[in-house]
Amino acid sequence: MLFFSFLAGILAASAVKAHPGADINAEILERREQIEKMEIRSLDHCAEELKRSGVLARSIARRQATAEKLRAKRGLLQARADPINTSHKSTKPYTLDTPASTIFAANTSCLLSPEVTEGPYYVTGEYVRSDISENQAGVKLHLDILVLDYTTCKPVPDVFVEIWHTNSTGVYSGVVAQGNGNYADKTNTKQSFARGAQKTSADGVVEFSTIFPGHYTGRTAHVHAFVHSSTAAAQANNTLIDTSGSHVGQFFFDQSLITAVEKTSPYSGNRQSLTTNAQDGILKEESKVGDPFVNYVYLAGGESVAGGLLGWISFGIDPKASRSVRAAAKFSGN
Ligand SMILES: *[C@@H]1O[C@H](CO)[C@@H](O)[C@H](O)[C@H]1NC(C)=O
Ligand SMILES: *[C@@H]1O[C@H](CO)[C@@H](O)[C@H](O)[C@H]1NC(C)=O
Ligand SMILES: *[C@@H]1O[C@H](CO)[C@@H](O)[C@H](O)[C@H]1NC(C)=O
Ligand SMILES: *[C@@H]1O[C@H](CO)[C@@H](O)[C@H](O)[C@H]1NC(C)=O
Repeated sequence: MLFFSFLAGILAASAVKAHPGADINAEILERREQIEKMEIRSLDHCAEELKRSGVLARSIARRQATAEKLRAKRGLLQARADPINTSHKSTKPYTLDTPASTIFAANTSCLLSPEVTEGPYYVTGEYVRSDISENQAGVKLHLDILVLDYTTCKPVPDVFVEIWHTNSTGVYSGVVAQGNGNYADKTNTKQSFARGAQKTSADGVVEFSTIFPGHYTGRTAHVHAFVHSSTAAAQANNTLIDTSGSHVGQFFFDQSLITAVEKTSPYSGNRQSLTTNAQDGILKEESKVGDPFVNYVYLAGGESVAGGLLGWISFGIDPKASRSVRAAAKFSGN
């Protein structure tokens, strides 16, 4: 209660309305209400099952292989081999010796709830593809997302996971709205960068290549995620027109990482007022019931964002729960 009054105070004081047509306070309340209804609030209890089934070992191996592959592709092998820079805190996507409590501990995994707000910028009809970066400039980010059924602790295969986020200067593609970039630029409805869907593998995994998101007024850098219901099917033109989703949520990045990214161009040219993690009301609310942060390694080693990032996160969902989501627009081509 105390928290909420404090937050409401901040929002009122700065008179910030980051989501035109959407109210952050209402979004927070809705989120809290739904979380309170959930009986299971973490993936803590899944540790043993994930070890037993081999999902944990395969996730670790896959993430390590991906980091190596991306480093090789970007000619970063030498930088990583420099022992001075390999003692960095996040140099590996875990080993089998990493305690499961670190990887999937209570409060360290992100539970997507069936009825959380999707925010005002969801667009339906986006492409099914793994590379969603298009020609956007920014720090390269490769995401590995594992979807688990938190009632059985088994991976959820064969469902579409869709993500969307802003570009480096804090603008979403596909939506013309006040507060989203240049309102006068109506061509944004024909843009589809930083949006896309992928179907989970047998191990419940999707991977996306994208760029690190930029902040916008009222919000820290974040990525939206939507796990569609199992009946969703792609169109003949490889797009996904489906709002019969089951789970939506948002995930976040360490402030130190955001700060490092924002020092680089074109992020540094973002003129929208900065909201840090500590000031983001939705993040604060999410953090109360989990840890919605992406784990990551700098692919170039050290603390340089120039070589890009590998990030990974696990989502817990209850596939039996469902609700439909509201789309702000439908994408029908560039
Ligand atoms: C090692 O890290 C330091 C500090 O981040 C950096 O200045 C240096 O260029 C790095 N060296 C290599 C070989 O990556
Ligand atoms: C997770 O958070 C809950 C609620 O704040 C707390 O009771 C529990 O002890 C935490 N678990 C761990 C492993 O930190
Ligand atoms: C971000 O997207 C908006 C809308 O398309 C565009 O005007 C802006 O130039 C983009 N930012 C960068 C750095 O390309
Ligand atoms: C894909 O096909 C669907 C169904 O015909 C159509 O509604 C949609 O606009 C098309 N999308 C694109 C990007 O061409």
